[in-house]
Amino acid sequence: MAAEPDADRAAARSGHIPVFLERTIELFRPVVEAAVEEDRQPVLVDGTLGLGGHTSHLLAEFETLRVLGVDRDPDALEMATRRLIAYRERFTPVHARFDDFDAVVAALPEDSRDGVGPTIDGILLDFGVSSMQLDVADRGFAYSVDAPLDMRMDPTTGPTAADILADYSRDELARIFRVYGEERFARQIASAIVRRRESDPLRTSTELVELLYDTIPQGARRTGGHPGKRVFQALRIEVNAELEAVENAVPGYLDLLRLGGRAVFMSYHSLEDKIVKRELSTRTASRTPAGLPVELPGHGPEFAAVTRGAEKASPTEIDHNPRSASVRVRCVRRIDGRTP
Ligand SMILES: C[S@@+](CC[C@H](N)C(=O)[O-])C[C@H]1O[C@@H](n2cnc3c(N)ncnc32)[C@H](O)[C@@H]1O
Repeated sequence: MAAEPDADRAAARSGHIPVFLERTIELFRPVVEAAVEEDRQPVLVDGTLGLGGHTSHLLAEFETLRVLGVDRDPDALEMATRRLIAYRERFTPVHARFDDFDAVVAALPEDSRDGVGPTIDGILLDFGVSSMQLDVADRGFAYSVDAPLDMRMDPTTGPTAADILADYSRDELARIFRVYGEERFARQIASAIVRRRESDPLRTSTELVELLYDTIPQGARRTGGHPGKRVFQALRIEVNAELEAVENAVPGYLDLLRLGGRAVFMSYHSLEDKIVKRELSTRTASRTPAGLPVELPGHGPEFAAVTRGAEKASPTEIDHNPRSASVRVRCVRRIDGRTP
């Protein structure tokens, strides 16, 4: 595989190893083989391209596969595009949120259609932030590095973490720390932020970490890990409206999948996995009205589960790739055709 040195170096430096790589390739193999049998070139959307880790291996493994690589982070998209230069005939970069279906559908190859309209063979969503984003100090994602409190995956648009800390009410701040960060001291932290900003708004990660050290009782700090971990995660989820994007994307991509097509979702936060699980259990259930003794023709499930529940990383993978420790992977395949 010919690869662009900068992006490879960045991937190596950030210790980036794609999560569940071998399994992901196997989950998509039947889709590619079916397309080849039908004399078609399959199309997969990688909605979270990142540094192109999964995509580079998928393109190397399946020589007819075409991939639309979507990322809202223009830097990631540029690095991945350079890394994938050897595959430029089969790779299309798209700068968009993964739930921007107008942008995604507009970038699909002309021939990627079924009887209903534009369609895809596969969707991969590896949610969350990339190791590269965590590593680049001035993006403000990391609590361990002093930087302006930005945290936008797409730095060209939307409010920053500093804006949220300056503008949200105490109740709103407490809610995001409690719900997205599962932070026990959410209320106390929100109150401390509101007090502090009356005289001096929080601008940098170090200022926020210092406030957290002053607010979270010392005893709790000994057992609860770094005080920044949960609050930074909560702010990142809010800044990027991450859960809203997942809510939109899961049903939207399931609708786009052609018969036999597969969706693979990788969640790292319990709330992401909950959204995925809820939608998949609806779509893998019978659509025959409850109480009827037999399945009505055309009212069977649209999708079948490929993974049994959520799959977790093996201890060996976690050893090599700590990011995989919290992953929950779910895969379904379409078993009933799309309706217009
Ligand atoms: C965990 S990384 C993906 C890593 C990738 N699978 C690889 O192997 O290199 C997640 C990527 O998705 C992007 N991302 C997260 N949420 C997004 C969204 N709503 N729309 C588009 N991109 C998003 C982030 O910018 C980040 O680059």
